[in-house]
Amino acid sequence: MAANSSPCAAVDDAFYQPADSFFPAQQGVALTYDDVTLATQYSEILPRDSSLDTNLADRLHLQIPIISADMDTVTESRMAIAMALNGGLGLIHYNMPERQQLSEVTRVKYHVHGLIQEPIKVSPDQFIGDVLTLIEERHFSFSTFPIVDAQERLLGLLPGHVVRSRYAARKVSEAMMPRASVQTIPERELQPDPIARADRFFNEHLGIHKLLVVDDQDRLRGLFTLSDIERITQEKAAPLKPGRDSQFRLLCGAAVSATRNSTGDLDKSRLVQHVGALAERGVDVVAISTAHGFSKGVGEAVRIIRDAFPELPIIAGNVTSASGVEYLARCGANAIKVGQGPGSICTTRIVAGVGIPQLTALYVCGKAAQEVGVRIIADGGISKSGDIVKALTLAHAVICGGLLAGCPEAPGQIMEINGKLYKQYRGMGSPAAMKAGSAARYGHSRDAARKVAAEGVEALKEVSASLDSVMTQLVGGLQSGMGYLGAPNLAELRLRARFSRITPAGQRESAPHDIVEVKTGGANG
Ligand code: XMP
Repeated sequence: MAANSSPCAAVDDAFYQPADSFFPAQQGVALTYDDVTLATQYSEILPRDSSLDTNLADRLHLQIPIISADMDTVTESRMAIAMALNGGLGLIHYNMPERQQLSEVTRVKYHVHGLIQEPIKVSPDQFIGDVLTLIEERHFSFSTFPIVDAQERLLGLLPGHVVRSRYAARKVSEAMMPRASVQTIPERELQPDPIARADRFFNEHLGIHKLLVVDDQDRLRGLFTLSDIERITQEKAAPLKPGRDSQFRLLCGAAVSATRNSTGDLDKSRLVQHVGALAERGVDVVAISTAHGFSKGVGEAVRIIRDAFPELPIIAGNVTSASGVEYLARCGANAIKVGQGPGSICTTRIVAGVGIPQLTALYVCGKAAQEVGVRIIADGGISKSGDIVKALTLAHAVICGGLLAGCPEAPGQIMEINGKLYKQYRGMGSPAAMKAGSAARYGHSRDAARKVAAEGVEALKEVSASLDSVMTQLVGGLQSGMGYLGAPNLAELRLRARFSRITPAGQRESAPHDIVEVKTGGANG
């Protein structure tokens, strides 16, 4: 029964209020995730049936509303690939030379899941004994290899059944299957859906388990295996799909800096050149991430990019006011990042005394976003999946830093301290990160960064499970929340959310208490 006009429903309505009654009633007090709880609602949906896709711009559609932060200890190509494969998006940070950032983006865009882009090859002059040594040293679980010449042109295939020690003294050229007998496919025939193309090939060629991809000069460009394709086609039927562009490439975002030239003006030509190069590599969105987005420099940077690239989705921020959202939207941003000081490594509120706790900031910014027709993204302060549910009652996506920084896919070395494994996680406003390039994000020049007050700390995160398992936990928690609220999709989640304030005693009651915990809840806390 879903009726809401009974006296009982009126009791609920009085105590558990929609955002438009709840937040205005708290004017003057800023609330964050742990200050509120959500009321359950009549539900007809199972959590696993709720859909999580979200639109951040006309040309930016995510399968799940989770983005990895553009921080130098969170997102480079490996994280961005894993995020996109999970249906989300990674924003590649800019604390690296522009050329390197371009190749990080290229790596994501050309990571065709299933196409091994750099297959292990052998040369015709090698001995089969050399190949056996290679297999042993590198622990390969396969023994069939393409054979190429010095120009990478395909000469043939070394089939697994001849890679045996009895033939160790034979040359590869003696044992190979010649080029004419090797099945290949031209690279240009792979689009628009390389996996479907490879799947069709394996259907048509009974017993062939490897498909080589070549370019117009017959140079080897990649390799598909039947087992990978079978795994991927099964994945395709799964409810959560990877985030891909119209050419079936993984989605990828990149952060750009509003850097200034020697006269202190915004370096317009450098910005246009940088974004142009990213767009050429196929970047799906650029993010202008600064600590203070409601500022002339950030607005100008957004305008410059919007004028030069009318179609390119732009994320800009950070702001915590309705006027800030309106300003960046009028400058041309599609999605606005909301968050000043909530991040797990942020000290902006301590150092500068400014910033607004996240839920109030999201409500205020969300009102402006509705007016001006942009999306908002909750950035920072997410420490568990329940925070994602609460954030998405007001925002269209979330950005996570600390929650993902311990994953093997995040950049950085693993270190061992007292028998525990850790990875570095640092604020982009920490002294070390600003020195490495992010000073502009905090309104400082890189040289001056040493002398200014830092707004972030350098920290460690315990090494966590793989991104896949962390995302499984986060998405599972989000879908549970949607099930409790009876929300089949994120638009309904925003409509159906009913809020209540929670006291410190209520917070204590919300977490495990009065027990000796022997097993934690995993990545989700
Ligand atoms: P979480 O809580 O997910 O926050 O670790 C990640 C977000 O924090 C922001 N960020 C900073 N904020 N000083 C700040 O005040 C910093 O040094 C800093 N570094 C990152 C950023 O918005 C990120 O997405």
